[in-house]
Amino acid sequence: MKKINVAIMGIGTVGGGTYEILTKNRDFLRKTQGVDFEVTKVLDKNLERIRSFGIPDGKAASSVDEIAADKDISIVVETMGGVEPAKTFIEKVLRAGKSVVTANKELVSKHWPDLEAAAKKGGAGLYFEASCVGGVPIIRALQEGLQANKVDSLVGIINGTTNYILSKMTDEGVSYADALKEAQQLGYAEFNPTADVEGFDAAYKLSILSSLAFHTCIPYTCVYREGITNITKADIKAGRELGYVIKLLAIGKRSGDRVEVRVHPTFVPVGHPLAGVSGSFNAVFVHGDFVDDLMFYGRGAGARPTGSAIVSDVVYAAKRSEPLYSDFVNDGKVAPGINVSTDFESKYYLSVSVKDAPGVLAALAGVFARCGVSIETVLQRGQDGGASISFLTHPSSESDVKKAVAEIEDLDDANKVVSLIRVLS
Ligand code: NDP
Ligand code: HSE
Repeated sequence: MKKINVAIMGIGTVGGGTYEILTKNRDFLRKTQGVDFEVTKVLDKNLERIRSFGIPDGKAASSVDEIAADKDISIVVETMGGVEPAKTFIEKVLRAGKSVVTANKELVSKHWPDLEAAAKKGGAGLYFEASCVGGVPIIRALQEGLQANKVDSLVGIINGTTNYILSKMTDEGVSYADALKEAQQLGYAEFNPTADVEGFDAAYKLSILSSLAFHTCIPYTCVYREGITNITKADIKAGRELGYVIKLLAIGKRSGDRVEVRVHPTFVPVGHPLAGVSGSFNAVFVHGDFVDDLMFYGRGAGARPTGSAIVSDVVYAAKRSEPLYSDFVNDGKVAPGINVSTDFESKYYLSVSVKDAPGVLAALAGVFARCGVSIETVLQRGQDGGASISFLTHPSSESDVKKAVAEIEDLDDANKVVSLIRVLS
């Protein structure tokens, strides 16, 4: 039977889940895959953490060089996270001819071309199913299941931490701070949770997914990004009254040579399937020209689901005769002729705090009319010393709505656009 020795660099949440699967399911993988996988080296800053998984000291590697020099290791799992030293370590083992399996979306989205170049130099594979949507095999589906299609949209919830926080705030009235603490304790959040709550993590993932879906580099810096830190209990309540729940959505669309990629909090109609995706679950809708609509759903974070995706790549790397590389020019730049637009169209919810005085509503209506933004619904409530007026717009362009926001805030010092949330139609 084929024997494959595996090294793991970084044995925290995901590395630990990976080790657990590779050891507990070793016999199962032998029987079903015809390959005997053994974790023979583990690298981590902390020897106690390695021991906590019952890994003998003899398997603790002293450096990445020890792994790169080990001729018996053919697959290296990187689950340390961050850009450096992960990039240097990965490139070193790739150049030594070892295939790499990583969950590191930040690194892949920022340095994919360099990693792929190192992989090609070493004749090795670079696989990253675990980098996006946790245990859900969406990367394999895009690379190997949907080749027949021109994919024109992918829309979904691709960050477990923010979905957990928003679900807890919405369903149980838990505070933002407490919900974030729980997500950290459960191992969903990044080392620096700012990456989750400010939408960077989702932007990294959307950059990878949309590059694969649209067959062109979509750098993460092209992704329009807003996180959930400005979402208040009042927004959640207003959404509920209007028939929406708030989700951090990632949206990628391609129409001809025009691409839009964005991550932002969104009012999702309660009857929409994405509204029911709660906690650490993720879901992504994909539309292709021949396959039509697809929905991918599952746990987007956590040791075991993400470990499952890593092990799937380990098996894939072990069984492929040739490494799989990008099917587009992967130079980190948007291909000539492709236009990544930030002026997208959406319905909007705006909540404006104003002076409670005659003519205010008419003035606001005038601004919207001048900016070409058509209003669908208006709600007004009195509040201490002023009023709160909420608007739902018909589909409008982002640039027109932003123009209207600036004009509203210029009308009078008392006016402030307190919330601006895009609405999924
Ligand atoms: P953890 O912090 O739980 O684990 C990382 C481990 O790597 C820690 O033990 C850490 O040690 C160790 N480590 C970090 N730097 C080094 C180094 N230079 N040398 C040796 N060991 C090092 O992170 P996660 O498991 O949560 O995340 C790992 C990767 O997986 C990240 O890229 C993340 O984005 C990704 N990911 C995470 C998911 C999740 O649900 N948690 C899901 C999908 C992807 P120390 O703690 O001492 O720094
Ligand atoms: N921090 C990430 C999330 C981990 O919450 O989705 C999974 O990629």
